[in-house]
Amino acid sequence: MIIAANLKTNLTRKQTSEYIEELENYLKKSDSTQEVLVFPATSSLDSFDGGVTVGAQNAYATKNGAFTGEIGLDHLDEFSIKTILIGHSERRHILGETQTTIIEKFNFYKNLGFKIVYCVGEPLEKREAGKDEMMEYISSQYEGIDTEYENLIIAYEPVWAIGTGLTPTLEDIQQIHSELKIKSKAPLLYGGSVKVTNAKEVLALENVDGILVGSAALYAEHFCSMISYADQLTNKQER
Ligand code: PGA
Repeated sequence: MIIAANLKTNLTRKQTSEYIEELENYLKKSDSTQEVLVFPATSSLDSFDGGVTVGAQNAYATKNGAFTGEIGLDHLDEFSIKTILIGHSERRHILGETQTTIIEKFNFYKNLGFKIVYCVGEPLEKREAGKDEMMEYISSQYEGIDTEYENLIIAYEPVWAIGTGLTPTLEDIQQIHSELKIKSKAPLLYGGSVKVTNAKEVLALENVDGILVGSAALYAEHFCSMISYADQLTNKQER
């Protein structure tokens, strides 16, 4: 399974390196077989050795150039970073990224072979407008995206569930995930208020290939517990 932490605008460079060290220690000790991804704040990016894959929360579709406030491929290459989060709802809705910009970014990093965690999800008014409108909205976020890209991971994150403590019911997650799986065979993560208390039941759902965790991942101990749930579920399946 894929267990991913989006640290957003949290943890300084020093705190991030301590955080990753804690995860590395846990992975070694537990012999975990999970794919663990961590997306630190841009200023905390660095070269990290070990089992944790470090990715960028954002980068501009450029190698370098005049794009004040952005980073480009050169800055990721410096730390051998080959993983990126694209289309997160905070970038779409708070920072105003359009689907056109997102497609540009997607194609740029896809052509470089990056692992892309591509986020989709509906705001509350679309959910309240009924199933058809909601699915139509989510489908529009697949437009222009190569859903067959081999290094693609999709994260379904309802906007209203992010950082709010609210989550869809398990039945809802399972149902939406099975519909989204028809659009793309890529691994499909669920994100939005995943916590130690609900991670295991979410991970156990059919068509949930992992989780993307924000606030609850800020505590390495909590995040490690979620990795351990995935290990428990994987081991059960293997037996
Ligand atoms: P949350 O964030 O776990 O704090 O809801 C998830 C995300 O934004 O990826």
